[in-house]
Amino acid sequence: MFCGPWLWGVRKVPLLGVGLPIPGCRRERGLGVPLLDPAKRTEPRPGLRAAQGSGPGPRSHLCPVPRQMFEPKSCTYTYLLGDRESREALLIDPVLETAARDARLVKELGLRLLYAVNTHCHADHITGSGLLRSLLPGCQSVISRLSGAQADLHLEDGDSIRFGRFALETRASPGHTPGCVTFVLNDHSMAFTGDALLIRGCGRTDFQQGCAKTLYHSVHEKIFTLPGDCLIYPAHDYHGLTVSTVEEERTLNPRLTLSCEEFVKVMDNLNLPKPLQIDIAVPANMRCGVQTPPS
Ligand SMILES: [Fe+2]
Repeated sequence: MFCGPWLWGVRKVPLLGVGLPIPGCRRERGLGVPLLDPAKRTEPRPGLRAAQGSGPGPRSHLCPVPRQMFEPKSCTYTYLLGDRESREALLIDPVLETAARDARLVKELGLRLLYAVNTHCHADHITGSGLLRSLLPGCQSVISRLSGAQADLHLEDGDSIRFGRFALETRASPGHTPGCVTFVLNDHSMAFTGDALLIRGCGRTDFQQGCAKTLYHSVHEKIFTLPGDCLIYPAHDYHGLTVSTVEEERTLNPRLTLSCEEFVKVMDNLNLPKPLQIDIAVPANMRCGVQTPPS
């Protein structure tokens, strides 16, 4: 019986094997918890917690409780990851309309939410991170510094977000927006790609300083270099799909299998309508989704 991460209510996913080390990180005796290279960074970014204890424990500790939740208006996926032992948890891409649902679930599961993390400044919905800060005291909002948005904590490429014995590695993956990041679980078994890479698609690049060429290189260099069996969890899906893998997208994604030149041509000719909520969502998300943002 495996004791790895799974998606309750969706499907069981066995913990996959140890993958390649995250660039800039070293791996601790093959158990899959990378530590930031001391030459690069010796201390966690102020506000981000250091890993508990002196290192990874037995494999039985590698049991976060990832859960994929859906917000139907913007077709957004929110992910809850927690450490069974310490009960520390984080949410990726919470949505304002479903923040109360997510807070309730966190409480029901006996978890302690440390962070409400955003993959980027969304244009199609207002982030739930502002509301979660008030619903769950102790929770901090997090987004990349390059997003330009206000938050309690700002991330740079290579930063680790620790929760219990686990960590999410921050990989800058700009192109959809300049501040987009992908979060990779420390054993490289799953990646939360935001809008950089969707299932058989990708985020648009025609607003918010998007750049198709930059997105192409981000996906190929930061996501497609992960192990083929690494699970891909996007920020959205409009067709009811829930998960993919690096190998699937590397070989089947109709856009990202093109040459860079062809990809740019396709992205420049999508002619999509403006997202309905963009004029409300972007200004609100620049304030972390709250009227009284953190300083
Ligand atoms: Fe987006």
